[in-house]
Formats: sequence, structure tokens, C-alpha cells
Amino acid sequence: MTSRDLDIIVFGATGFTGRLVCDYLARTARTTRWGIAGRNRDKLEAVAKGLPHPVPIIVADALDPAAMDRLARQTKVVCTTTGPFARYGEALVAACAEAGTHYCDLTGEVPFMRRMIDAHHARAIASGARIVHTCGFDSVPSDLGTYGLQQAFRATFGRPATTVTALFGESSGGVSGGTVASALGLADEAAKDRDVRRLLANPYALDPDPRAARPPAPDDKMLGWDAKLKMFTMPFVMAQVNTRVVRRAHALAGFPYGQDFRYREVMSTPGSARGLAMALGTATVLGGLALVLASPRLRKIVAARAPQAGEGPSVEAQARGHWKVRLVGEAGDDRLVYIAADPDGDPGYRSTARMLGESALCLAHDDLASSGGVTTPSVAMGDALVDRLRRAGIVLQPA
Ligand SMILES: NC(=O)c1ccc[n+]([C@@H]2O[C@H](COP(=O)([O-])OP(=O)(O)OC[C@H]3O[C@@H](n4cnc5c(N)ncnc54)[C@H](OP(=O)(O)O)[C@@H]3O)[C@@H](O)[C@H]2O)c1
Repeated sequence: MTSRDLDIIVFGATGFTGRLVCDYLARTARTTRWGIAGRNRDKLEAVAKGLPHPVPIIVADALDPAAMDRLARQTKVVCTTTGPFARYGEALVAACAEAGTHYCDLTGEVPFMRRMIDAHHARAIASGARIVHTCGFDSVPSDLGTYGLQQAFRATFGRPATTVTALFGESSGGVSGGTVASALGLADEAAKDRDVRRLLANPYALDPDPRAARPPAPDDKMLGWDAKLKMFTMPFVMAQVNTRVVRRAHALAGFPYGQDFRYREVMSTPGSARGLAMALGTATVLGGLALVLASPRLRKIVAARAPQAGEGPSVEAQARGHWKVRLVGEAGDDRLVYIAADPDGDPGYRSTARMLGESALCLAHDDLASSGGVTTPSVAMGDALVDRLRRAGIVLQPA
């Protein structure tokens, strides 16, 4: 690894999120050798011009396996925002697993992750490549939040929590063209393929063996009330991704919270009349979204009107943005609330660029005990990433 030219390559540097990751590294990683990559030289040069220091440029098409192979061999870590990952992601994961190159991305596409696990996990273990999906808002708060909560729970009560509920609360942000394209692509895949629909409905879709007998873990489908926190709850749109990632992390770690450990994820609003109105409004929006995703005609209309590739929330909207997740751990009568939050940045972009950028820096520079394989942020980076994110302004601590 030490003979490689670069520490990090940001692949997809010309995209909306890729540009934010470049800005983040330019501000925070002065001693890191990093470069930018993508398929279009002119666009890459424009990105490089906007950065305060010169960076090497690598032109490579995601659909060209030989180019991905060369890219993977030039660097310790590839940090990629080239989505939809189902369309552009596979050759790069294969190349990194083969070359022993660490990898982090922003995918929330469960069928893509399942394919990468089945095709490349064993090779990545053998080569030592840490392949880490979901290093943004999906699923760092869930995965590292559960990891941090369990450490605090053990320190307080001498045993792990047997159930954890993550309540996604106050937040403000928007969506980008790549995110819309990825969601619509996934809906298309699910509409065409019954196996994909089955996989998406499987609470253990990302476990080493997704067919193994495990405790029931249904996704929330209704409005509810959390009597202890005095908050309304409703289904969370990313729960079908995040819960699978947390369960994979638990399985890969050898079930440290017990075979019957339950993880659940919902959205929450305050227990007031206004909170109820917000919950009903959100449930209506979610119902509308489900209808849109189920209809090919509505998906086409949304694709035409939503932000396009390269577009996303304004700088002002990103700066105004924030998010907060309350993770509630319980075992018998013992109970602990843990907070994952970013008061300074919208979840999907400014805050995600911080989480992905720190993941890339962590994989490049930190002394990690984990082995290779297709894992999760907590399994691959654990305490080192928690420390980095805290230093970067993200809250991960008991309430
Ligand atoms: N998990 C999270 O919290 C989170 C948050 C934000 C985004 N995301 C995900 O991140 C991904 C990117 O989103 P975005 O809005 O940044 O997308 P975007 O603006 O459309 O950027 C996509 C990038 O991929 C590049 N690309 C496309 N095809 C390529 C190819 N064949 N070879 C090389 N590069 C190629 C594009 O290059 P050109 O500029 O040349 O077209 C561009 O740099 C999406 O999958 C989205 O869902 C996840």
C-alpha cells in the first residue's frame, strides 16, 4: 500500500455531492495526498480550478473495468459518489476488492449492496480491502449511533441493551438529482423483479446469510406514540436501509448484543397538537411518495421535474440544515438515551460530505483493527470514526 501515489481518490468529483466532499477535504486534509476522478476531463478541470490547492486529475469511466482497476491501484482509498450505484458501482467495488484498496461510498441501494456482498466479500477479506457502503446520513447515525449507545449502555449498566429504537427527529434539508435517480432506479428494479421486492422486505437482507432464522423484525407501517419519550412516531423513509445495515454490523461483530437483539427505526415528532399535525402531514407525504414510486407513469413525471444530475439544495439551504436522532437503548428496566446529531449542516449533503470525507480519511490514515470485507462504518472503523466525527462537529453522546 505504501508505494501507491495517493491516499484518497474522490471518484464522482464532478457531481453535486462529490464537489462537496472535495471542498471538505480541501479545507481539512492539508497533509493528505488526494486526487479527483471522473469521466469528463473538462468538468474535472473546472472542479480542480475551484480548489485552493492543485490536485491530480484521473479520467476514468465507471463502466470500464480496466479503468477501474487502474484507478484502484493508484490509491490507498477510493471515496465514491458515483451513483446510482446499481448502474455505475460494481466494477469499482470489484477492482478495490481485488487490489486491496479501501473503499467508501454513499449508497443506500440494498440490492446493490447484497450483490457486492455476494460477489466480493470473500475476495475483500483475502486482499484486506475494507469495502464500506453507507458512509453518509444513510447509515452513519444509525450504525455508529447504535455502536456508541451500546458502549455507553455497557459502561452504565454492565450489559448491552437488548432493544434499540432510533427516533429520527428535528431535521431540515433537501435532495439532489443523484438521490432522486437512485430512488427511482431502485423503484424500477423492484417493479420488474420479484426477488428484489422480496429482498427489500427482508429485515435481514444484508446479513451474512439473509435466509437464516432470526427474530421477527417488522418495519413500522403506522403512526404510533412513544409513551416514555412522549413523542409521536411514524415510519422512516430510510429505515428499510439503515435497519439492515445495523443488523449486518451486529452479525459481522458476532452478535455482541445477543441473538435476540432488536433494532427499530422510526421518525418522531413532539407530543403536542403541533407534533400530531406534523406526524399526520409526514404520513400523508410518505403515502404520496409510496404511490409515486409504485407507478411507472408518476415516476417518469417526477424524474422530469425533480433536481437533475449535478443539482441539489442551495448553499443557504445546506447551511440552514441540521438533523437529530435519539437512540433509546433498553434492557429490562435499564434505559439510556443517546444522541446522534449535526447542528451545522443538512443531512444529505453538507453533513454527509463531512461523514464521507472523514470515513475516507479514517480508512487512509487511522490504525484500524478490522479485517477486510464488505462491512459497515462501525465494523470497519468503530471508535476511530466516532472520534473523527466528534472532532468534525457531529454529536455522538449520551443525552
Ligand atoms: N447516503 C446518503 O446520505 C446520500 C447523500 C447524498 C447522495 N447520496 C447518493 O450519492 C449518489 C450521488 O448523488 P449526487 O446527487 O451527488 O449525483 P450527481 O450530482 O448526479 O453526480 C453523479 C456523479 O457520477 C458521475 N458519473 C456518472 N456516470 C459515470 C460514469 N459512467 N463514469 C464515471 N463517473 C460517472 C457523474 O459524472 P458527470 O459529472 O461526468 O456526469 C457525477 O460526478 C447518489 O447515488 C445518491 O443517492 C447518498
